[in-house]
Order: sequence, then structure tokens, then C-alpha cells
Amino acid sequence: MVDIQGAISLLFEFLWTLIKVNYETIRGMWRALVPPDPKDVKNDIIFITGTGHGIGREMALRFARLGGTIVCVDINASSNEETVKLIKQEKGKAHSYQCDVTDRSAVMQLAERVGREVGDVSILINNAGIMPCKPVLQQTEQEIRLMNDININANLWTIQAFLPSMIARNYGHIVAMSSMAGLIGLSNLVPYCGSKFAVRGIMEALAVELKDDPRELNGIKFTTICPYIVDTGLCKKPRIRFQNLMKVVNAGEAADIIVDAVRREITEITIPSELHFLIRYIHRLMPFPAACAWSAFVNTGVDPHD
Ligand SMILES: NC(=O)c1ccc[n+]([C@@H]2O[C@H](COP(=O)([O-])OP(=O)(O)OC[C@H]3O[C@@H](n4cnc5c(N)ncnc54)[C@H](O)[C@@H]3O)[C@@H](O)[C@H]2O)c1
Repeated sequence: MVDIQGAISLLFEFLWTLIKVNYETIRGMWRALVPPDPKDVKNDIIFITGTGHGIGREMALRFARLGGTIVCVDINASSNEETVKLIKQEKGKAHSYQCDVTDRSAVMQLAERVGREVGDVSILINNAGIMPCKPVLQQTEQEIRLMNDININANLWTIQAFLPSMIARNYGHIVAMSSMAGLIGLSNLVPYCGSKFAVRGIMEALAVELKDDPRELNGIKFTTICPYIVDTGLCKKPRIRFQNLMKVVNAGEAADIIVDAVRREITEITIPSELHFLIRYIHRLMPFPAACAWSAFVNTGVDPHD
């Protein structure tokens, strides 16, 4: 016998889902055109990895100028202390901690120490990363393992360290550095692309897991950053055919864009921002050979180096 009541309730559930899907799609499009006002980070404790150099240092300086308390973390103690010194010269609040983020127990001990000495971390920025750049058969096992440990696993260790207190307060923001290489495959970056695709996967799955959580943890936000090339020395031999489209930015410019995206709680951005639409909604929807034909025309990537 047909279960009429069950069928009606399924139909209503389906219609209600359609309404929600349409509402969220329109809201998403509206938010892309009119982003929310930037949030205040004065009372936030902002834990950033890789603050000894490049984008990490510049983000630390900018968040400190906004009044946040910065927990600067790097494997390189002296360059990290230099960042803290720069922040303090501007009368900002910052603490320096040396840590190899690939070492899970060191990360856990650091989290406990930061909790005692500074307070509850409310914004976690997983920024430390490396980029071996050569054909995959020339990359050593050691290079690949180290890269995955820094670029992927360290994200998971810090999330395991800081998410519990964010959940307890239903307040927090997790930010991860992916890359344009986390949106499209590029020659000479096979393991790196894998690691940056993984970062996007971790962030998306984490957002879904917390959305599914019955405790309604909507106070925890997520932002994933996908820069193209930032002039920090990480990418030594960029190859760019159309300079205006694929603009190289300096670390300060990148940090300005990232800090703004975090404050507006944007889920994912590219740097430059125009590439987001092109890559996500055009390039990724094309059949693979068509996307390759575009890539060959654009002829953008990185040449190998040691
Ligand atoms: N620069 C670019 O063109 C570019 C493009 C896309 C994505 N990214 C990503 O942005 C992030 C920052 O890049 P960047 O160019 O500022 O790099 P960078 O090399 O200038 O700085 C990285 C910092 O991370 C630190 N670090 C490295 N290994 C560490 C470890 N095990 N533990 C703790 N700290 C460690 C380094 O000491 C350094 O201070 C990386 O994740 C990178 O993959 C950079």
C-alpha cells in the first residue's frame, strides 16, 4: 500500500529544501555584490603560523594595527621575534612563540601555553607553507613528506588544538592558506597542488561537519585564501603571459585583501579577486581538454627551480 502521508511529507520537505536552496543562492549572490561590514577584531586573540616572513608577517602587522592580540608562531625564532618587535614598535600587542607546526605534540603544548599566557584563541590562521617547484619525478620522498606535513597536516593539528575552545564558546574563525594551485593543476607543482587542494577539502569538510553538529555552532566561521603569486620569494620563477589579468601582488597588498576577507567573513577568495569567478564558475565547469586549451593560451605557471 502506498504511504500517502509519507509521500506528502517528503514532498513538503523537498519543496522546503528548494526554497532554502534558492534563498541561499540569492543571498550568496547578494553577499558577493554587497559584502557584510568588516567585523571588529580588537578583542580577538589571533594565532598566525609562519609570521617570520612574507604574508604571515604582513597579516600579523595589519591585525595588530586593528587592535587584535597576535600570537606569532614560526619555526624561525629570530625572524618571528623581529615581527613581534615591529608590532610593538607600533604599540601593538603580540607574543612570539617558536614552534615547528609539523610536530603535533609541540602544537598541542603550545596551544596549552598560549591559553595560559595569552588567553583563548578566537582566530586561527594556518599560513605556514613551503613550495618545492620541479617535475614530480625530481621531488624527493623527504621533500614531499615535509611539504605535506607543513601544508596539510599542520592545519589539522592546529584545528584539533583550538577548535575545542571555539566550540565551547560557539565563537571563532578558522582561516587557511590554499592557493591558485589549490583550484587548478599546474606543472612543476604536483605535490604542492595536491596539498593546496587538500587544504580546501579540509576547510569545506570542517564547515560541513560543524553545520551538521546539533549544537548549532554557527558562531564559528571559515575563510580559505587562494592567492595566485605573491612576491615573497616563495615562487621564484613565475611565468605570466597576461600581466594585467594575473597580477603579482606584494605581501602587504595580499595581507590587506586577506584581513578584509576575514573581517567580512567571506568563505573563499582568490588574489586577485577576479580570478575566483573565472576559475570556479568557468574553468572548473569546462571539459578537461577545453580547460587545458585555455591554460595553454593563458600560458601561466611556474618554471622549475631548486
Ligand atoms: N607567495 C606566494 O606566491 C603564494 C601563493 C599562493 C599561496 N601561498 C601560500 O601562502 C602561505 C605563506 O606564503 P609566503 O609566500 O608568505 O611564504 P614565506 O616563505 O615568505 O613564509 C613562510 C613562513 O613559514 C615559516 N615556516 C615554514 N615551515 C614552518 C614550520 N614547519 N613551522 C612553523 N613555521 C614554518 C617560515 O619560517 C616562514 O617564516 C603559504 O602557505 C603558501 O603556500 C603563497
